[in-house]
Amino acid sequence: MSERWTPDSWRGKPVLQMPEYPDLKALGDVEAQLATFPPLVFAGEARNLKKSLARVAAGEAFLLQGGDCAESFAEHGANNIRDFFRAFLQMSVVLTYAGALPVVKIGRIAGQFAKPRSSPMEKLNGVELPSYRGDIINDIAFTPESRVPDPQRQLMAYRQSAATLNLLRAFATGGFANLGSVHQWMLGFLKDSQQSRRYKELADRISDALNFMRACGLNLESHPELRSTDFYTSHEALLLGYEQAFTRVDSTTGDWYATSGHMIWIGDRTRQLDHAHVEYFRGIKNPIGLKCGPSLKPDELIKLIDVLNPDNEPGRLTLINRFGHEKVGEHLPGFIRVVQKEGRSVVWSCDPMHGNTITSNSGYKTRPFDRILSEVKSFFQIHAAEGTHPGGVHLEMTGQNVTECTGGARAISDEDLNDRYHTVCDPRLNAEQSIDMAFLIAELLKTSRVDRAEPLPVASGL
Ligand code: PEP
Ligand code: CO
Repeated sequence: MSERWTPDSWRGKPVLQMPEYPDLKALGDVEAQLATFPPLVFAGEARNLKKSLARVAAGEAFLLQGGDCAESFAEHGANNIRDFFRAFLQMSVVLTYAGALPVVKIGRIAGQFAKPRSSPMEKLNGVELPSYRGDIINDIAFTPESRVPDPQRQLMAYRQSAATLNLLRAFATGGFANLGSVHQWMLGFLKDSQQSRRYKELADRISDALNFMRACGLNLESHPELRSTDFYTSHEALLLGYEQAFTRVDSTTGDWYATSGHMIWIGDRTRQLDHAHVEYFRGIKNPIGLKCGPSLKPDELIKLIDVLNPDNEPGRLTLINRFGHEKVGEHLPGFIRVVQKEGRSVVWSCDPMHGNTITSNSGYKTRPFDRILSEVKSFFQIHAAEGTHPGGVHLEMTGQNVTECTGGARAISDEDLNDRYHTVCDPRLNAEQSIDMAFLIAELLKTSRVDRAEPLPVASGL
């Protein structure tokens, strides 16, 4: 791996999960065009995120990463983005308050389009067609024409990402995310639920605290951290030709950055040491994620860390564990021990979604809320036992009132799935389930903070 790295050196390596485009000339033209387009994010922003993630690695902050499994062209709209952002802000307020820790906020958004698939073919009523691989590659409609990879879709995905990011930047800095608006983030359809009552109580307490500070003479308007928030974007960088086109040199440092999103990650199916995805990722300076599933061995993990974070830079690497609620106890302690023994700095994040997918009796791909929660609980327990920081969570979620995961406060059943099953890929927590999950994680975070706090000195001589 000591060979020279270039943005296209991945092309000389074996690669998995990439589409085969029938017209390579058309693909090349699109990639050349993308390479002339403005970057979506700046290197300085990626560096700021890396600094924030370094605080997570040090146990001084918590990471909340979440969004759609796959963004779609059809669902692109202002209301969707706003509702997602509102649910996400609510979750982060719940976590910040309970954990008394800053929350680093990263959306799976503005670029999360390309999907690895467990099977290259999909069968429906006896007909077999190539699998849907995300809107940036082909179309979900079950016809032979729709499933042909079309490079023009990369242009659409770029434009959608730019429009989404534009709105997110406006929401994050233009007043919407002002902590004084904490009540207004409540979603309409959540009114009268248990979550909304709990959230309102918390929002009241925050408002009281702000009013108290004002009464003490503090000018809250002069504190930008109360008026805006740092919100970052992320996606699985699966489609390497697209990523290469957005790999740009940062003029201030001379380093290469992926400018398609602030953080990008390697999927569980494409993390082979000598393959193209690892090759691409080793050369860019962004904070990156590595999905770690049950098939990864601890010694392999260390070899991957050697390649992906050779300088042991804090905040560079987030290990996104996705074992499943039954397997997490078997795998995570070994990972933590080897990383600790080797003295590597990582962010430990728990993806409780991808190891807990089942097919319901009604035939839908779903995830039971209790299994998701169970993996998160084990994650916290294991870190408490190992004395390490449970850095964060990685969720598939939406701000919409969908019925894709079973269970939660409203006890969505198998029969309910048919009602509003809208995802184009994996089942997501709906807004209510997401906020519910945030309250439950907040309790775990609070306990882990209390357990790890220095004991108060005991007064002597009394
Ligand atoms: C995903 O995050 O949507 C995904 C495909 O995850 P994994 O690579 O962990 O299976
Ligand atoms: Co997914």
